[in-house]
Amino acid sequence: MALPLTASGYTSSMDWSPTYSVNVAVIDEQHQTLIAQIRALQEAIQEERAAQPLSRILSNLRALAQAHFMFEEGLMEAHAYPEMAAHQAAHAELAKRLEELQRQLNAGNTMPGTQTIASVRDWIAHHITGPDRDLGAYLNQEGVR
Ligand SMILES: [Fe+2]
Ligand SMILES: [Fe+2]
Repeated sequence: MALPLTASGYTSSMDWSPTYSVNVAVIDEQHQTLIAQIRALQEAIQEERAAQPLSRILSNLRALAQAHFMFEEGLMEAHAYPEMAAHQAAHAELAKRLEELQRQLNAGNTMPGTQTIASVRDWIAHHITGPDRDLGAYLNQEGVR
């Protein structure tokens, strides 16, 4: 699937589009919220805002991601999803990346580069259109919409 990149590539912001739908309404809504928060983070970095507000946006993003991962994992467990372990490991990897980003931000007041945020954005885009879509298809079979 083509990612919504502009010619300038890495600095483009991420917008929700129907191509991100996993066909489960609540998950789609949570993804929209996550994407909006990543966008806020990208904008804060592009506008070179101070590290403090950046850290707050990042905290929000981490909390949202955590709640969302727990929600998906709860559904996987409830419906005995066979790919749960791998999916859970992928969630843990992103949580670790966000934690590291926050640690850097808090430690040195250094601005994370747009490349760093772009890699988080790309990870989410690939996760939604890969493992999350597979999960959505499985849940659909289970009668979850
Ligand atoms: Fe997921
Ligand atoms: Fe997800």
